[in-house]
Amino acid sequence: MTREKPKNLWLSRWGFILAATGSAVGLGNIWKFPYITGEYGGGAFVLMYLACILAIGIPVMMTEIALGRRGRGSPIDAIGRVVRENGGNPAWKAVGGMAMLAGFLILCFYVVVAGWAFAYTWKMLDGSLAAPSVEALGAVFEAHNASPLQLGGWSVLVALLTLLIVGKGVQAGVERAFRWMMPGLAVMLLALVGYAWTNGSFGRGVAFLFSFDASRLTGEAFLAALGHAFFTLSLASGAILTYGSYIPDGQSIARTTFIVAIADTCVALLAGLAIFPVIFANGMDPSAGPGLIFMSLPLAFQQMPFGTLFGVLFFAMVSVAALTSAISMIEAVVAYLNEKYGISRPRAAFGAGSVLLVISLSAMLSFNVGADWKLFGMTLFDGLDYLTSRWMMPLGGILMAVLAGYCLRGEILREELGLSPAGHALWLFMVRYVSPVLILMVFLHALGWLGFDPLARWYWIAGAIGVLAVAGELFRPRGLKAQARV
Ligand code: TRP
Repeated sequence: MTREKPKNLWLSRWGFILAATGSAVGLGNIWKFPYITGEYGGGAFVLMYLACILAIGIPVMMTEIALGRRGRGSPIDAIGRVVRENGGNPAWKAVGGMAMLAGFLILCFYVVVAGWAFAYTWKMLDGSLAAPSVEALGAVFEAHNASPLQLGGWSVLVALLTLLIVGKGVQAGVERAFRWMMPGLAVMLLALVGYAWTNGSFGRGVAFLFSFDASRLTGEAFLAALGHAFFTLSLASGAILTYGSYIPDGQSIARTTFIVAIADTCVALLAGLAIFPVIFANGMDPSAGPGLIFMSLPLAFQQMPFGTLFGVLFFAMVSVAALTSAISMIEAVVAYLNEKYGISRPRAAFGAGSVLLVISLSAMLSFNVGADWKLFGMTLFDGLDYLTSRWMMPLGGILMAVLAGYCLRGEILREELGLSPAGHALWLFMVRYVSPVLILMVFLHALGWLGFDPLARWYWIAGAIGVLAVAGELFRPRGLKAQARV
């Protein structure tokens, strides 16, 4: 069978790296990572998050890029083609469908948070953030959320900008914007870390982030860390797979993945180093929840020389970072409608956008009039986050690992990944044994089917991986023999 010809490719070798980093670096790093680290108590969470990035995020990301490039298309079509090439079961396409749905549902609450960043750029300018204390800034944040008109207006603005850019096509616009945006964000973050160093309780911040308290290593925190690893790398949601389908042949997937993952992790850690010292210096509670950065950072800006300028630039950068991530969440859906049904990109964006507006405006109401509309004890906003990060992305990840590790003929992915024999063996070991076992244990724990806390029992995990690995090597199905030979 001849392979699908690529229709769109990145303009340069850096195209994918820039776009994938743009997708990965976003509110997850600057807003979500600090606030959930605060909620789960610091160092132990950071350690579990880093472990999840290494043991699950990186192998799954490589798999996703390889599937995208091999199948050249939106998640459903790409997985469909790769499976067909193997004579496999077309039902695997559902994994692509679920990923696209996850990306879309994430976008529905993401635009609300991105709206905060946009609004704060503006508020920095018009002086409404010149409040004297963290409490006063908390009141500003609450007042902003209490108004459906304000909150909704900014969310709609973000949604429209996203749709406009995606409608035009990602390659040209996005690739150019990323070139100056990523370095700019890095400079801003370093400046903030510099401020935290000189004016914040830097030592306490560092201790909070990196000192490790074993009693905090709970299954619940591990589940959050796992979900966040998927979220922050934009995995199992169509974004990376679709962007991967635009990579020219011959570019190293492993190297690309490492660059993106390292950049993403550095931004998250820098954000933590910028934020926690300020929080401790001002006697604020690190577990303040989603408003954490909006209550602490404006105070830091006020006390800095050229603070207003820095503040405006910072929130503008966060807004752009959020926008580049938002774009990637809906790219898969638009690419799918465009390829499958020949609907033009602007029209596809418009169609998907109408659904997006309805759901995201409903999610926005969770902060004001709809604060009491709850299902399973969660507002719509929290529910969308919970459903996608805790369930859909880890499930998508496990399925992709199983697809790549057990169901595809080895040569295909070996060719796509182009790793050294040892590198390939390591990747295969990760997607066959380590990633699925870890994700599965975390699921079982969440369902209450593991009576013990999996993290208090590291040897259970190591044992399960070991038994599976040995069993897998002894009873390997025939088709897989070729894959294991290096
Ligand atoms: N990774 C982005 C962040 O950290 C969020 C993001 C972009 C995303 N695209 C995604 C999350 C697709 C899940 C799925 O902010």
